[in-house]
Amino acid sequence: MSLIEFSAGASPAPRSLSLLKVTMPALAEMKRQGKPISALTAYDYATARLVDEAGIDLILVGDSLAMVVLGHENTLAVTVDEMLHHTRAVRRGVRRALVVADMPFGSYHGAIGEGVTNAVRFLKEAGAEAVKIEGPRVELVRALVEAEVPVVGHLGLTPQSVHRMGGYRVQARSIDAGLRLQADAFALATAGAGAIVLEGIPREAAGAITAALPIPTIGIGAGPDCDGQILVFHDLVNLTFSPPAKFVRHYGDASTLFRSAIEHYREDVEHHAFPSDAESYHLPEAARRLFSIDPDLSDARDNADAVVNSDAREEMNQF
Ligand code: KIV
Repeated sequence: MSLIEFSAGASPAPRSLSLLKVTMPALAEMKRQGKPISALTAYDYATARLVDEAGIDLILVGDSLAMVVLGHENTLAVTVDEMLHHTRAVRRGVRRALVVADMPFGSYHGAIGEGVTNAVRFLKEAGAEAVKIEGPRVELVRALVEAEVPVVGHLGLTPQSVHRMGGYRVQARSIDAGLRLQADAFALATAGAGAIVLEGIPREAAGAITAALPIPTIGIGAGPDCDGQILVFHDLVNLTFSPPAKFVRHYGDASTLFRSAIEHYREDVEHHAFPSDAESYHLPEAARRLFSIDPDLSDARDNADAVVNSDAREEMNQF
């Protein structure tokens, strides 16, 4: 397997493990070996670290961040600069996983050259190792690969096409549409795409495409027969505020955990139960007298020189 071995360095944090870096060719090797590819989205340093340290193979800085992080109604509004900003944060938290950045809506829909220029920014300025683009943009994939930009394709329910599709609807529901999708997947693979996300399509179509395609498929709402699976991090941990799609499984309940922690904190503040004395910094013993609110010590406060000997003053200065 073409995995590069490297030792985790001092940055972003001490880690003792020797890690096998996941690369684009490693994904192809995993398909060859029948080894499932695990993938998740991440959008910031903290979640990227958790996802990476849990051994997830591929981290996608998805444009879904427009919705789950930035609160937009759909993914269309997020900009290249915003995606770069989040990709940099994720990059700083990842040692092992392959980092893939989503190209946002509008950044690759015009001239091919413009798409290549925007894609290069994700590798050059943010440390991504591949970009993901939606739709059967075969010519663009060819140009990106020529420009040394590894590409992950994305077919089926492509959220950037929400207005054309008339909503988030399962795609390829007929034999004809399934065959068209399969032809698109082949065209992307032939153009040099390293993997393809299949979203929101029947299990049967995804299974047939996966079996026939030379490159890995990564499914979301596409059934269990893809080479890998991806979920949106916020869906995985129930941190979205809408009813989950059929394919989402909650592996944790961050909403309940966070709500309870936040409410508990508010109550403690309101009842003077936070912070405690043990959670406070303290002056040295001798100097405490100066700040004492004990009325018996008010004379001492008024006459600091008489109370604080030179040793105590020295102790205070060190504090
Ligand atoms: O933006 C995203 O999170 C995605 C995944 C759903 C594949 O494209």
